[in-house]
Amino acid sequence: MVKKNIAFELLVYTSREELERKDAELMEVAIEARKKAYSPYSNFEVGAAILLGNGEVVQGNNQENACYPAGLCAERVAIYYAAAKYPDVSIISIAISATSRNYVMDRPAAPCGNCRQSISEYEIKQQSPISIIMTGETGEVLKCHSVSDILPLAFNSTFLG
Ligand code: THU
Repeated sequence: MVKKNIAFELLVYTSREELERKDAELMEVAIEARKKAYSPYSNFEVGAAILLGNGEVVQGNNQENACYPAGLCAERVAIYYAAAKYPDVSIISIAISATSRNYVMDRPAAPCGNCRQSISEYEIKQQSPISIIMTGETGEVLKCHSVSDILPLAFNSTFLG
């Protein structure tokens, strides 16, 4: 038996003001997108903004449904829109803003497992990393350099034969 440790670099910023300009601008778009979230059931609002290799920024927000599982997370709304509109353009980074109408979120929410898997699909397809920047309403802001950092041992198409 061999023990392997998996480590990754996580950038922890004390606030949004500390972000690099490009990341801060992308986060502003995510925040604006978040304000248009449709989340009457969870009261949880998420906005995502995607910077593409051609300079375009695509946004999305969570869309809920009375039949709960029919809803979709902000990250997937955004990434599927990006992939649908610009199928051959690479994705550079995704900024995610999450808040609750029930309480003050003083820390970021990382993307759910399904969203990590969806982002991973495009990262593998384009063969270049997609960085992820995350913020709540207040507090620290997090950034990782690749979705593979937060989805180790990901399932991918090589298993399908
Ligand atoms: N949600 C997202 O949009 N992104 C995530 O990564 C986690 C959860 C949404 C889905 C649902 O509308 C609400 O937040 C509560 O789960």
